[in-house]
Amino acid sequence: MGSLHAIEAYARALSFQLKKGDILLFNGEMGTGKTTFIRALSRYLGVQNEVTSPTFTTVHVYQASLPLYHLDLYRVERLEDLFTLDIELYFQKTDALVLIEWAEKLEDLTPKNYLSLSFSYALKPDERILEVLPVGDTYTPRFQKQTL
Ligand SMILES: Nc1ncnc2c1ncn2[C@@H]1O[C@H](COP(=O)(O)OP(=O)(O)O)[C@@H](O)[C@H]1O
Ligand SMILES: [Mg+2]
Repeated sequence: MGSLHAIEAYARALSFQLKKGDILLFNGEMGTGKTTFIRALSRYLGVQNEVTSPTFTTVHVYQASLPLYHLDLYRVERLEDLFTLDIELYFQKTDALVLIEWAEKLEDLTPKNYLSLSFSYALKPDERILEVLPVGDTYTPRFQKQTL
């Protein structure tokens, strides 16, 4: 199971593999480590600002080695909310990296190609389980399916 150290080491490895246009979808209950992972990943990508959860603002934008959009769909309740957010615009960003927390709320609007990162609680309180799954033709050759 993944200690914070192991999961942050994976975030570092991932930071070298990511490129503009990539979409990362994060799932998992509150407190399982989605924002913590994004904070580590952002740091490895060179974000200087403090990365916080965009739960109430919905979108944060950071400048790193590549522009980074960090969305949190926690407050999304219906399809309309996703349209209000212009969610589909984020799936067309070819010049940036897009990270979305609570991506299960996308339902039918889930894109065809993305890297899925699913977090869950482990037996030990100081560990988490992270399942990495590339989805779609453009992601499966680039990323390995793995569980940390
Ligand atoms: N890999 C990890 N191992 C142990 N604790 C973690 C890990 N990732 C996050 N935590 C702890 O869990 C708590 C919630 O993390 P957070 O990233 O805010 O979760 P989420 O964004 O999924 O709601 C924080 O106190 C954080 O320090
Ligand atoms: Mg969070």
